[in-house]
Order: sequence, then structure tokens, then C-alpha cells
Amino acid sequence: MIGNEEQIFLGRVPKSVALHQKALRHIPGGVASSWASSRPTPVWVEHGRGAHVWDVDGNKYVDFHSGYGANVVGHAHPSVVAAVQNRVTLGTHFAQPTPDVIVVAEALAERFGLPQWRFCNSGSEATMDAVHLMRVVSGRDLIIKIEGSYNGHHDSVHVSIFRSTSELGPENEPWRVPGAGIPQAIADLVRIVPYNDLAALEKLLVEYKNQIAGMILEPMMMNAGIIAPLDGYLQGLRELTAKHGVLLAFDEVKTGLVVHHGGATKLYGVQPDIVCLAKALGGGVPCGAIGGTAEVMSVISDGRYSQVGTFNGNPLTMAAAKAVLVDVLKPSVYDDANDLGAYILNNALDTLHRHGQPAYGFQAGFKVCVVFNEKPAKNYRQFLNISTGISHLHFLKQFNGGIFLPPWGKSESLTLSVAHTKNDADIYIENLVEFGQMLGSMGERDSKVFAAGSFN
Ligand SMILES: Cc1ncc(COP(=O)(O)O)c(C=O)c1O
Repeated sequence: MIGNEEQIFLGRVPKSVALHQKALRHIPGGVASSWASSRPTPVWVEHGRGAHVWDVDGNKYVDFHSGYGANVVGHAHPSVVAAVQNRVTLGTHFAQPTPDVIVVAEALAERFGLPQWRFCNSGSEATMDAVHLMRVVSGRDLIIKIEGSYNGHHDSVHVSIFRSTSELGPENEPWRVPGAGIPQAIADLVRIVPYNDLAALEKLLVEYKNQIAGMILEPMMMNAGIIAPLDGYLQGLRELTAKHGVLLAFDEVKTGLVVHHGGATKLYGVQPDIVCLAKALGGGVPCGAIGGTAEVMSVISDGRYSQVGTFNGNPLTMAAAKAVLVDVLKPSVYDDANDLGAYILNNALDTLHRHGQPAYGFQAGFKVCVVFNEKPAKNYRQFLNISTGISHLHFLKQFNGGIFLPPWGKSESLTLSVAHTKNDADIYIENLVEFGQMLGSMGERDSKVFAAGSFN
């Protein structure tokens, strides 16, 4: 079935296939970022408007990929376009502050309950600054991160991600597995805990008393579908870290401005010491931001930590971010997002269950996640047991039916935008009906192929 759908996919995008061949000559893998390299071929996009994108072959899609969750304002939103166009005519880079920086910082302080903000250019830079800040403030080297959680591609956090269970080591003594190019010595500055496990965290905090600078985590674990925090997990985490004098950083690169107007921080009502933002903040232009308490950010103010970057607070980014925060992502739009998100999730689960397919899901604000599995995963190891094949088949089926989901279906989720409507949602549901029928017609042999972990 995967083979069939991949053939249909390739038949729809001949110009993408040709461009990919051409790109391979001078671009490794034929793509600008390895995550744009997906099976059966990267799709080259021509343009986007509102909730839709068009590929270079002229096919139109409802876009739930959203550039890996960044386009919550939709494509070419008039307010963002006007702000960026206006800024371009005034000059786009000085490495000196422009007044928009103040407006953006004020809006973020109000939304996330942290008084001080700095800017950078990506989520990875934001989490890198978070780690540096935690170390400078505390004078300690060790940090805690969640097993299997992606927090960006810099050395400090690119540890124990995208690994199989056998590569992660024993569950109660997990290994610290560095990403390619990262020395083990750097990975050894990290301590790994499973998500949703307060006992494991407490054990670490006691064992490494006065050695841990801080803990960084996605308050709602993404990049593993979506794994929601269990009741009391985030509150418990906050209490334990505070009790042990360990700073807490929320990586809200994916959740910030997406699940709620004040991110997961406000959704769950748990206040970290640091918040990292990127993706949705820029309304489609590269961005990053880091917020902190007065105590944390004082090390920047007094010069103990130089938070730097030529393009930090870039005028184009700040103009776009101001439009995003002030004009588009007002608190009221999250009510509409929750309505549409619930409509998608409820109909998706009904459809799959009607066809005898195990499924569960999660929805918050602009995020929706449908997982083809019986039981919700509570952590990364449980997530690994979910079939990769069925998620990929779903990605293909939706693509061939006019819905652009993020590739790597098992790890990803749907991101809606202010421009999406029920009509867009209904196309997704109609494709799911066909998908359910397709799975229902699967013979025993095919079902076994889709058994957990048997397709990669
Ligand atoms: C949770 C999380 N943190 C950090 C990052 C890194 O962001 P960027 O790709 O902008 O460097 C990502 C990227 O997907 C992410 O999902």
C-alpha cells in the first residue's frame, strides 16, 4: 500500500522530482535542511496563501504542515505582508535597535509572565541561550533534559534523540547518546529523564545535589506526536526544581503562541524561569526569543553573559513579530482555533473508530494530533512502539488527497492557522474515511507489517 501511494505521489509532482535531481548537484541531499528531505521525494513549493500552498506542479493543498508548525497566521497574512513590505523600504538590518523591539518584548512579557526578553534567529539559538543562562546564573555545568525530546541542534541538547530503545540504554539508567559530530564529553554534561516521570527527576536531583544548573523541556512534548503532561506533572516539576535550586526552562518553540496565546506556560498555569520561543512568533520569517525572570536576565544586563548575534532583533523579524502579536494572534483567535481543532479531532477519531482502527488524539489551540495507536504514549519509549508505517501511509494518503501534512507523520502533528476553515478540515476527514477503508481491507499479512516498529 505504501508503494502504491508513493507511486501516485511521485506521479503528481514530476517538476519537484526534476528540481530535486538538479539540486542534488550542488546541495547535499538536494535540500536546504535535512528535514525537508522526506520520502518519496521533497515537494517544491511555489507559493502559499492563507490556509493553502501550491507546489511547482500546480497542485493545491490544504496546509497543515505549516512549515513545521510556524505558520499559525497562515501564508501571506495581509498584516504581516504590510508590516514586512513597509520595513523593507526603510532598511532591514542595522544591528542597532529599532522601536518595534520594545513592543514585541512588552507583548511577550504580558503573555508569558516573564519580565525580560532578548531575541535571536531560531529555536536552536533560543535553547542554546537558555542553557548558557542556566549555567551562568547557577555556576554549575550539568543540565537535565527529557529522553527523546528535540530541543534544537546545538551540542548541549542534541543528546538521546531519534534513537531506538536499544540505543538509549536501560530505562532506569539511560545512556547519554550524543548526536553525530558531538563529543561524548559534551553529552556527559546532560542528565536524561523520561517525560512525565517525577520520581526519576527527584532521584536525579538528589543524586546530583548542587551540581545541576537547570532543566530544559517542552512542557507539552512534541516531535513525538504530542505527549500531554499528566495531571500534576508540570506543577510537580516546578516544585521539585525550585526545592533543589535548579532553574526551569520551557522550550516553547513549538507550543508558544500556538496552544494558547500565552503558550503552554499559560495553558497549564506553571511559571518557568525561562521561556524559549521561535517558529510562530515570526509569522513566517526567521525568529527566536528568550524570556526570563529578572534574576536570570540580570546576568545579561550586568555583562556576565553576552547574549549576542548580528541579526538579533532584526528589524524585518521584529516588524513581522509585532504584526503577529498585536494584529493577528489576539487572544480571541484561540477560541476559534479550539473550535476548529476539536471539530477535526472528534471527527477524525470517530471516523477511525468506525473503521475499527485504534486511534487517540490531542488538541490545544492550533495544534491537533491524531495517533494511530490504542493507548496514549506517556514518554518517548512508549512513543517508539507506535507504528511508523501506518503514519507514513497516512501522510501519503492525505498528500494524494490534497492535504499537506508534515512529513515524518509519526513524530509530527497538524498545525492550523487563523485562515483554516471547516471546508479545509472536511477534506482531511474525507481522506481519513478512505484511509480507514483502506486499513480495513488490509489482510493479516499487511497488518503484521504495520505492527509496531516494523517499518522504517
Ligand atoms: C521543541 C523544539 N525546540 C527547538 C527547535 C529548534 O528550532 P529551530 O529549528 O528553529 O532551530 C525545534 C525545531 O523543530 C523544536 O521543535
